[in-house]
Amino acid sequence: MKTYRIATIPGDGIGKEVVPAGQQVLEALARCTQNFEFQFENFDWGADYYRQHGVMMPADGLAALRDKDAILFGSAGDPDVPDHITLWGLRLKICQGFDQYANVRPTRILPGIDAPLKRCTPDDLNWVIVRENSEGEYSGIGGRVHQGHPIEAATDVSILTRAGVERIMRFAFKLAQSRPRKLLTVITKSNAQRHAMVMWDEVALEISKEFPDVKWDKELVDAATARMVNRPATLDTIVATNLHADILSDLAAALAGSLGIAPTGNIDPERRYPSMFEPIHGSAFDIMGKGLANPIGTFWSVVMLLEHLGEFEAAKRVMAAVEAVTADASLHTGDLGGKATTAHVTAAVCALVERTEAAVA
Ligand code: IPM
Ligand code: MG
Repeated sequence: MKTYRIATIPGDGIGKEVVPAGQQVLEALARCTQNFEFQFENFDWGADYYRQHGVMMPADGLAALRDKDAILFGSAGDPDVPDHITLWGLRLKICQGFDQYANVRPTRILPGIDAPLKRCTPDDLNWVIVRENSEGEYSGIGGRVHQGHPIEAATDVSILTRAGVERIMRFAFKLAQSRPRKLLTVITKSNAQRHAMVMWDEVALEISKEFPDVKWDKELVDAATARMVNRPATLDTIVATNLHADILSDLAAALAGSLGIAPTGNIDPERRYPSMFEPIHGSAFDIMGKGLANPIGTFWSVVMLLEHLGEFEAAKRVMAAVEAVTADASLHTGDLGGKATTAHVTAAVCALVERTEAAVA
């Protein structure tokens, strides 16, 4: 029997509710297989830790995560701590520290979910956005001088490196190749940004030659938003820079019905470090502590975590349970217009995961 070591980092807000729910689903899964078990270690990092210690995570935090097989993350963000501190002190520290350079964001309209595009069937919207996760607009390079004076200046420098663009393009082409439609759209803004984005386009063209069976096109990021709404079926795999993909993935999640459903994997494709899986929603202060958070985004992230571990049958089993639960409107949380609680949805998914005695292959 294999033992997978999983770090759980609930973080802040509703992260503290959905990560334990995700752990419950993994525990339910482990109960019905002889093939693997999970060993969880929980880390109480986040804004409460910051209030006590002045940092979001301890200096040796990365070392504590280093030998895990995967990380399940909730969210970082607190009404009383500036957002750039919570983000850079925890989530980005882990993403950058472990060079999780590929951020993968699948979007589908799950059964029973009422999506806002009236002319769009679930078959028309089946995308996966690949977000460059290590550089670009989130490089962290920049500075501020003459603070408070009229001559104050501030920069956030977006850096793209050839090596960084090559590796994300190769990852995206490979992912597109593994999907039935073998279709990749490269998002750009090389009409206005005439240096780095032009290199981005050039590298895309070079890498495309390694994947002759993948059809690909380029789309300007602003035009891409209109295309996602008007012609969703023309898209399949999408690759974009850090900030472009950040924005497009919120649009994608909203078009698929709710931000509460959307999952993410922060992946180190070379597997030198543990990868980290999380729902894309934030801490949601308005509903935190009330048991109302939608755990589906975390459960779908758990599916991605299982796929990353190579446990494809187990991943399918959890996804089937998730889809059966979304199909039942009485199990919809508030973000989907329903009244179900986090606990209801979690219990329903766990019960379905455990329903058949058949061992997970
Ligand atoms: C996301 C989030 C984060 C990001 C926020 C919380 C800083 O929006 O994962 O998409 O922009 O990276
Ligand atoms: Mg975002």
